[in-house]
Amino acid sequence: MDWDAFFTVHRDLPREGPGLADDVAWAGRLSAVPGDGLVCDAGCGPGGDLAALRQLVPKGRVDGFETVAHFVEAATVRFAGDPSVRIIKASMETLAGSYDLIWSAGAVYFLGVTKALNVWRRALTETGAVAFSHPCLFTDKPSRAALAFWEGEPGSIGTESTTRAEIASAGWRVLASRPLTDEAWSAYYDPMLARCDQLEAGEVSDAVASAIAAARMEAASWRTVSHETGYMLYVVRPC
Ligand SMILES: C[S@@+](CC[C@H](N)C(=O)[O-])C[C@H]1O[C@@H](n2cnc3c(N)ncnc32)[C@H](O)[C@@H]1O
Repeated sequence: MDWDAFFTVHRDLPREGPGLADDVAWAGRLSAVPGDGLVCDAGCGPGGDLAALRQLVPKGRVDGFETVAHFVEAATVRFAGDPSVRIIKASMETLAGSYDLIWSAGAVYFLGVTKALNVWRRALTETGAVAFSHPCLFTDKPSRAALAFWEGEPGSIGTESTTRAEIASAGWRVLASRPLTDEAWSAYYDPMLARCDQLEAGEVSDAVASAIAAARMEAASWRTVSHETGYMLYVVRPC
C-alpha cells in the first residue's frame, strides 16, 4: 500500500467510513447521555460525527482522538470556533477520563473488540456506555466476494453472533444493535467518488491512479455484497 497515494484520495472528505447523524442520535438516546456530559469520538477521522456528538451534550464536551495528522488537522479546523470540542492527536488506546459515551465509528477493529472494551472500561463513568460500528457478515455462508471485501483490513470479520460473544466474554452487555443503512454507506462513498473525479480531472501519478482505482473498486464491490456484509452498530455497557 502506498500510503501517500491512499491519503491523497482520502483527504478533504467529510468522513472516512459509513455513518449518519441519526446513528449518533440513536446511540445517544440508548445510552442516556446527560446534556452536560463528556463524550469521546475514538478514531474520529476528519470529524464527520463530531457535530452530531456535540448535539448530544449541548452543555458538555466532546473529545476526538485520532492518530493521522491530516485528519487531526481537518477535524481541528472544522471545530476551531467551538471550545467544547477538543481534538487530541493520540491513540484511542490511551483514553483516560470519565466519559458518558465513547463513540467509535469504524475504528474498533484496529484494536480488536476485546482490547478496546478492556481499555475503555476504565475511561467510562459508572453509567457510561460505548457505541461502535463494526464489520459484520450478515450470513453464515458468505460468498468469496463478501470475504474479499474486507481483505487487508485488520482482524477477522465475524457475524453479529460472534461479535456479541466477544462482547459478552469481555464482560459487557449489548443494549441494542442495528445495521448501518445504505444511506450511511453513501455518506462515505459519494464524497470519496467525487474526490476521485476531482483528482482525475488533473494530472495524477501512477500511484495515485492506483489508489483511485482501488477506491472505485471498493465502492463498486460494496454495492455487490451489501446484502451479505456491512457494519453493525452496537451500544454496550459493562455488566
Ligand atoms: C474507518 S476510519 C473512520 C473515521 C471516522 N470515525 C469516520 O467515521 O469518519 C477509522 C479511523 O480510526 C483511526 N484510528 C485507527 N487506529 C487508531 C488509534 N489507535 N487511535 C486513534 N485513531 C485510530 C484511523 O486513523 C481512521 O481515521
